[in-house]
Amino acid sequence: MDSFLYVTLLSLFIFITSLSLHFIFYKNKPSSSSSAPLPPGKTGYPVIGESLEFLSTGWKGHPEKFIFDRISKYSSTVFRTHILGEKAAVFCGANGNKFLFSNENKLVQSWWPSSVDKVFPSSTSQSSSREEAIKMRKMLPNFLKPEALKQYVAVMDEIAQRHFNDYWGNKSEIETFPLAKNYTFWIACRLFVSVEDPDLVEKFAEPFNLLASGLISIPIDLPGTPFYKAIKASNYIRRELVSIIKQRKIDLGEGKASATQDILSHMLLTSDENGKFMNELDIADKILGLLIGGHDTASSACTFIVKFLAELPEIYEGVYKEQMEIAESKAPGELLNWEDIQKMKYSWNVACEVLRLAPPLQGAFREALSDFMYNGFSIPKGWKIYWSANSTHLNPKCFPDPKKFDPSRFEGSGPAPYTFVPFGGGPRMCPGKEYARLEILVFMHNLVKRFRWEKIIPDEKIVVNPMPIPAKGLPVRLFPHKA
Ligand code: HEM
Repeated sequence: MDSFLYVTLLSLFIFITSLSLHFIFYKNKPSSSSSAPLPPGKTGYPVIGESLEFLSTGWKGHPEKFIFDRISKYSSTVFRTHILGEKAAVFCGANGNKFLFSNENKLVQSWWPSSVDKVFPSSTSQSSSREEAIKMRKMLPNFLKPEALKQYVAVMDEIAQRHFNDYWGNKSEIETFPLAKNYTFWIACRLFVSVEDPDLVEKFAEPFNLLASGLISIPIDLPGTPFYKAIKASNYIRRELVSIIKQRKIDLGEGKASATQDILSHMLLTSDENGKFMNELDIADKILGLLIGGHDTASSACTFIVKFLAELPEIYEGVYKEQMEIAESKAPGELLNWEDIQKMKYSWNVACEVLRLAPPLQGAFREALSDFMYNGFSIPKGWKIYWSANSTHLNPKCFPDPKKFDPSRFEGSGPAPYTFVPFGGGPRMCPGKEYARLEILVFMHNLVKRFRWEKIIPDEKIVVNPMPIPAKGLPVRLFPHKA
């Protein structure tokens, strides 16, 4: 019903706008002062451009189709389009990635669609999500530095054990995706804001789903649209976070909470270069961003690990062997530690192959800071530029026989530079990469230590919105190992 309403409103919206003079003006207006040609491509319908094709190839489970159709039609290096309300160039291949990742803050800067800015309005300052992201980056190293990460391994393992006991133990069938989300979200709630209560974790889960699916959407703020639901959900979560923050302030004042216990304490007690502290709403926004970034991405990866290990018994055997050697080296009740993680080499190669074939984020945007040339084409100032993980991950020039699941691609020196980019690259590379590696490996350890499993729906469809997930949540039948 909701999606019907959405499509109807969208059609109406397209119809009305296509009557406008804007269309005529827009179609004929030269976009660059430069005499060099713009990249080849088309800009689709007025206003919404090619957004529907861009998004709907994902909804149908093949986001790479949008890219590869245009690569074969126009150019293998760069093509032009119009998506999410913006004129854009899509840079393809390892060279495109290298160019963008090496020119951050020189020719390009990070940019998020306006839907993101509206779902995450900067509460007090009038700055954009980009400026807020820069502040966030400054804040994160303390929380994600190696010494801190080492401490998290045991916490993650403890939560994983509780999670598998509570939600997988004594069950013959489970739905993977909601449980993977519960796992990563529980860890994030514990490490970011010291919330451990499973009931509170569950209470947040639904609004987070709405938020994630509306984040990269067409920004139409009308009841029923994913965008509208995302804004409502983000307001709800923000209010809940503010009450957690208020309580923490009291606890810090009374000595009941510590300055180093999590990122929330850190944010409350750290001032900027002018000695100014962030207010409650700003902190709530930052935590909200981290919970989104650190939750759905990793849970999508965990879900696809369950999927591929069910489909590929020989890969399961390799992971099982490695993890059981580690499990058998531990004393009863001893939690995983940093050294154990370093031994999980084959498991991480498997996880990387999963991230290659099903990257949780399909790509990201940049904005051109000035007019510049790329591969003989002019990129005008202000244009948005999109890099797509699939343009290398599924490209036979970068990964021979790209659809084949082959973890040995990551042995030795691994894939060529700028070809394997699930976490992006350059100065804006995902700051949560190592944290994600830990939680994924701890998940794999606890999973294979306890179970084998098989898929209940053999050909379950994949939907990418905006993260890839199996359409029915990947139900599996569990076979616990004999004690
Ligand atoms: C498998 C899990 C993850 C994947 C695949 C992933 C991937 C990415 C990608 C592709 C970007 C965009 C880079 C770009 O703009 O070029 C990004 C940005 C970001 N990620 Fe992650 N991420 C994951 C987990 C995490 C976690 C666990 C956290 C937090 C603890 C996190 C926090 C962030 C933040 C804050 C940014 C924005 C950085 C900036 O704009 O400078 N991510 N991530």
